[in-house]
Amino acid sequence: MSLLKSAILLAGSAALVAGHGYVSSIEVDGTTYGGYLVDTYYFESDPPELIAWSTNATDDGYVAPTDYESVNIICHKGSAPGALAAPVTLGGTVKLTWNTWPSDHHGPVITYLANCNGSCADVEKSALEFFKIDAGGMINDTVIPGSWASDDLIADDYSRTITIPTDIAAGEYVLRHEIIALHGAEDLDGAQNYPQCINLNVTGDGTATPSAEPATSFYKDTDPGIYIDIWQTISTYTIPGPTLYTAGSTATAAAAVSSSTTTAVEATQTASSDTSSVSQATSTQTSAIQPPATASSSPDSGTSSTGSAPGSSGSSGNSYPGKPGGSDVSSDEAPSSTTAVAATTSTASSSSATTSGVLSGSCTEEDYWYCNDGSAFQRCVNGEWDASQSMAAGTECTAGISETLTISASSKKRSYISDMHRRLARRRHE
Ligand SMILES: *[C@@H]1O[C@H](CO)[C@@H](O)[C@H](O)[C@H]1NC(C)=O
Ligand SMILES: *[C@@H]1O[C@H](CO)[C@@H](O)[C@H](O)[C@H]1NC(C)=O
Ligand SMILES: *[C@@H]1O[C@H](CO)[C@@H](O)[C@H](O)[C@H]1NC(C)=O
Ligand SMILES: *[C@@H]1O[C@H](CO)[C@@H](O)[C@H](O)[C@H]1NC(C)=O
Repeated sequence: MSLLKSAILLAGSAALVAGHGYVSSIEVDGTTYGGYLVDTYYFESDPPELIAWSTNATDDGYVAPTDYESVNIICHKGSAPGALAAPVTLGGTVKLTWNTWPSDHHGPVITYLANCNGSCADVEKSALEFFKIDAGGMINDTVIPGSWASDDLIADDYSRTITIPTDIAAGEYVLRHEIIALHGAEDLDGAQNYPQCINLNVTGDGTATPSAEPATSFYKDTDPGIYIDIWQTISTYTIPGPTLYTAGSTATAAAAVSSSTTTAVEATQTASSDTSSVSQATSTQTSAIQPPATASSSPDSGTSSTGSAPGSSGSSGNSYPGKPGGSDVSSDEAPSSTTAVAATTSTASSSSATTSGVLSGSCTEEDYWYCNDGSAFQRCVNGEWDASQSMAAGTECTAGISETLTISASSKKRSYISDMHRRLARRRHE
């Protein structure tokens, strides 16, 4: 990591308080709707009906490039459709406001639409096919790491306003809005995607059906706009994903970068165009999600650390939950790396040992997880147990050693805020 980056990340550690963000409010043609307040609604038995999709990303974490072919990339982890849809006119505006955004999480802000072919309230998310309607990337690179659409979003009170194309067919659409944070993207799989979805009901007499593709084929971990070092001078930045659709234009179905099918298409969009004849950038939609290489790998965790005080998240000095202490703590990757783990849960298997306490030394079952008393986890990496990490606030794992780490919402909901206050108070004395 460059000195410059370290310095900026340290200076930016106010982000420690703020965390990542989510879309907390949406103004559609002048009417304001509430977003899915994941840190509140997720824990309520009867959350309000919204235009926003729900998720279980209670750590405000991200979807990693290793997850680009999974359903998580569509509308975030554990997502489900909103019950409502906000009416919007052709050429109308949608202003998406985030509750917060860390200033060091520079990157593009991209928005897509997908026709639900009917109601979005019960749509099958993997059937959604999106076209890009708005994209902001690098604005200039006058001062490293550059000025980005995410910086403009912060300057606009954490908001970005999108215009609905003037010619698309009426109907219910899912709007997928996303920030991709690139502060760690000099490492392969270091980019962080934060997708957010809402339902719109487009009215008007448009006829265009832009060619579209599933979100699971948008990105590759090696795309030039995904795997990029923003900590050195960049001449141009290639916004990742499919080509931008503009009203009345021809659109291409293939992803701008990446796939071998990019040669395929240049389809003129007309009302009668048969979108099924338009070749989609094919992607094998894997349901088996590969766990990340190590539980502790995160863009900024280059330090070899002594590990946090395991299983006692309230007493570990400057370590953030899920992240071993380190000098270049950028704080926010930590819960996310836990989330990456969460994404791997599918079938809990062979939970045999009832061991508790921190494990060290050699292990035989490579890539297996160890959940220590629900509150901390370790992984068998290269034949050794790696450092113990606390579970993210509000989550717990099923104790034992197993091939997959089973994560659930904490039964006793810990006060994340007061926890953080304690940690911060302690930091001040260091
Ligand atoms: C989120 O939801 C998905 C899909 O239902 C599930 O597999 C995953 O375990 C959940 N994660 C958490 C942290 O609850
Ligand atoms: C809507 O129709 C298109 C074209 O037939 C199809 O590709 C797409 O999967 C459908 N979307 C949903 C959500 O069913
Ligand atoms: C770079 O972009 C930022 C954000 O839009 C702007 O404030 C700044 O003036 C720009 N710098 C130059 C040299 O254009
Ligand atoms: C969408 O708008 C149409 C036309 O105004 C209306 O008939 C329909 O009920 C609306 N759907 C939703 C879910 O609001």
